Amino acid sequence: MAWRDADLDRRVLMFGGKGGVGKTTSSAATALHFARRGRRTLIISSDLTPSLSDIFEAEIGPTERPVPGVPHLYGLEISPDEVMRRWKEKFGPEVYQAASALVDLPYDEVIDYAALAPGIQEEFMLDYILGHIRSGRYDLVVWDTAPAGDTLRLLGLPGRFLAHLRVAPKIYLEVQDRFRLKQMPFREIIASWQELARQTMEFFGDPDNVEFILVTIPEALGVYQSRRVLAELAEHGLTVRHLIINDVVSAAECDFLRRRREMQQPYLEMLHAEYGGRMTLAEIPLLPYEVKGVERLEEVERILFGGE
Ligand SMILES: Nc1ncnc2c1ncn2[C@@H]1O[C@H](COP(=O)(O)OP(=O)(O)OP(=O)(O)O)[C@@H](O)[C@H]1O
Ligand SMILES: [Mg+2]
Repeated sequence: MAWRDADLDRRVLMFGGKGGVGKTTSSAATALHFARRGRRTLIISSDLTPSLSDIFEAEIGPTERPVPGVPHLYGLEISPDEVMRRWKEKFGPEVYQAASALVDLPYDEVIDYAALAPGIQEEFMLDYILGHIRSGRYDLVVWDTAPAGDTLRLLGLPGRFLAHLRVAPKIYLEVQDRFRLKQMPFREIIASWQELARQTMEFFGDPDNVEFILVTIPEALGVYQSRRVLAELAEHGLTVRHLIINDVVSAAECDFLRRRREMQQPYLEMLHAEYGGRMTLAEIPLLPYEVKGVERLEEVERILFGGE
């Protein structure tokens, strides 16, 4: 079933799924589609080994750059480590100033410790993405997530982070009490982090802002992993409405392909039976070539969006 633009009319489209199933291919084709329709689109890869440069056959790096030949499309490859580094640069001095009123420790130790708070890395990744939306430079951010397969779970993290911050002030108050400290320098910082976590939760938890697209393949590992990811997301109250089944063998003119198709058949049936009723399922056939360059991406775009 082809996608309709209206169903994907969101500020952020997130692509997730297990390693190598076609997340980058699908997100690049989708970003291309909306850029072609005049929406100022930014495609972000947060993978440690990003492949946007390879797929667009153009230099894309940790600063936003236009994708050559595609007006309105910009690309950015940024690892969680780099996001963390920028966060430290931005907030480090403030955190250190507060902490050094309590303890006498070297700068790096304090900052590295602060960065260990549970969920903080993911929290700042989400905040980073949100920053691009708020900048007003883009109408749409397409996010090609890291291939852990369960990366969509990070959406549950602001909640966990917030929960941690609820306890943190108590701990700091105890410290304050024990050492008879007059001021509580952490309190303000904690309050500002709480606010940050609350805002990211509010944005990413709103289905009007964010659409999750799960990519899978019709094989046991793909099907089982999708089931796990969907169950986890459901626990956080997040619903997935779009599933891409990639690498589907359609025509089978030789024994090899016939056997692959037979292998895929029960998994395809399983996926349709389980999710067909409540999700839009888009199938991408296994193509005889790798998907590289704008022309090939346009073919995937036509498959997904029905060549509208
Ligand atoms: N339908 C398809 N037919 C043929 N080749 C495909 C198809 N979809 C993707 N590929 C190829 O499979 C490889 C993996 O695809 P892609 O990079 O999109 O996966 P990914 O999920 O982003 O992987 P990773 O988890 O490593 O980031 C690429 O070389 C791509 O060109
Ligand atoms: Mg990828």
